[in-house]
Amino acid sequence: MTRSLTILGATGSIGRSTADVVLAHRDEFRVEAVVGGRNAAALAQVAQRLGAKFAALADESGSEALKQALSGTGIESGAGCSAVLEAVERDADTVLAAISGTAGLAPTHAALKPGRRIALANKESLVCAGSAFMTDARRLGVEIMPVDSEHNALDHALAAGFNRDVEKAVITASGGPFRTWTRERIAKANAKEASAHPVWSMGSKINIDSATLMNKGLELIEAHHLFDLEAERLDVLVHPEAIVHGLVQWNDGAITAGLALPDMKVPIANALRDQGRLTMDLPRLDLAAIGRLSFERPDEGRFPCLSLAKAALKAGGAMPTVLNAANEIAVEAYMADQIKFYDISEVVEIVCSTFSRRSISAPATVADALGIDQEARQAAQQLIRDYAETTRL
Ligand SMILES: NC(=O)c1ccc[n+]([C@@H]2O[C@H](COP(=O)([O-])OP(=O)(O)OC[C@H]3O[C@@H](n4cnc5c(N)ncnc54)[C@H](OP(=O)(O)O)[C@@H]3O)[C@@H](O)[C@H]2O)c1
Repeated sequence: MTRSLTILGATGSIGRSTADVVLAHRDEFRVEAVVGGRNAAALAQVAQRLGAKFAALADESGSEALKQALSGTGIESGAGCSAVLEAVERDADTVLAAISGTAGLAPTHAALKPGRRIALANKESLVCAGSAFMTDARRLGVEIMPVDSEHNALDHALAAGFNRDVEKAVITASGGPFRTWTRERIAKANAKEASAHPVWSMGSKINIDSATLMNKGLELIEAHHLFDLEAERLDVLVHPEAIVHGLVQWNDGAITAGLALPDMKVPIANALRDQGRLTMDLPRLDLAAIGRLSFERPDEGRFPCLSLAKAALKAGGAMPTVLNAANEIAVEAYMADQIKFYDISEVVEIVCSTFSRRSISAPATVADALGIDQEARQAAQQLIRDYAETTRL
């Protein structure tokens, strides 16, 4: 049976890998709509490659460029919020949500429709508004399939038993580009160095999050919402080979793990599958050739963002929303060379500590979450302006 699919973030790293999976299974998928941010030419290209019916660009000013690029193709197009909403409203069995950052929350939430499946890459949706998002998904009978390789692995491992028998669910981190660097050297690292991920090829924001290990922290919060596991039963291990993506330790001491070569097409194919698995023409994992798999504990001294995310998860309430918003602003400022590497964790820590005094409860709706997100962004922006002032003095 052919499944209809809409891809949010179709021009990004996950979007492009999804296109590869779909094109390898042309008879199984029909692409209804593709959504991009600002790059009209790239969106037009992916829309044509996939034979999509509709292409929507979030940036309204790209409307003409998109129309021009698609003229004569028969593909309809639109730009701005209403076009993005039109894309998610159109008839599709599955929506793959891969917009980067909190910008992905509103369209991903709008994509929740009875009977639909969401293949979720946009972890920020769950970090910003986890309880509200998951409550709505359950109410509407929407299946959420994790695309993140760690959660995809956990999803399989957890299927081997009952939630109550899980002692620990562990997600792995490759350790990022600074795994072996001293704190002093990391402190001076620029965004280009932080983006040089040793294993994965990804978008710019997640690259920096991987260098700070905030990405792993966001993934712990994501795992909490996806699998209904509290902070005490979630953990992180550094595993530089990036072969074991997630492990479940059961209360009898046995472990079930998910292994694969580090290629996002594997979890994407899995998240898009209907029944069984899609056959993928990818290199096979040869454990004998690899020979050795190594694991180490994360160093939260050199990577304080991980402990900040763990603290936000434990504190609950609105703290994950605040953490996520402050992190996005700090990462943007770091990429723009306005702050240093360890200013990212400092900004997040100060904003979280300011908001923690208010004991705000977990946002009950996505709109509430976006309100808190805005407030936390403003606080982080003010802090970064203050940094700039201090540096100028
Ligand atoms: N890359 C990975 O290996 C990986 C693994 C696991 C999870 N994830 C998660 O997947 C998500 C996407 O990551 P990525 O690496 O693919 O990011 P990316 O390469 O930066 O791509 C982001 C995509 O989102 C679009 N976009 C940005 N802002 C938008 C907006 N306001 N409205 C609509 N579209 C917008 C971009 O369009 P333009 O190109 O036009 O800007 C692009 O298509 C993130 O949440 C990330 O954490 C990624």
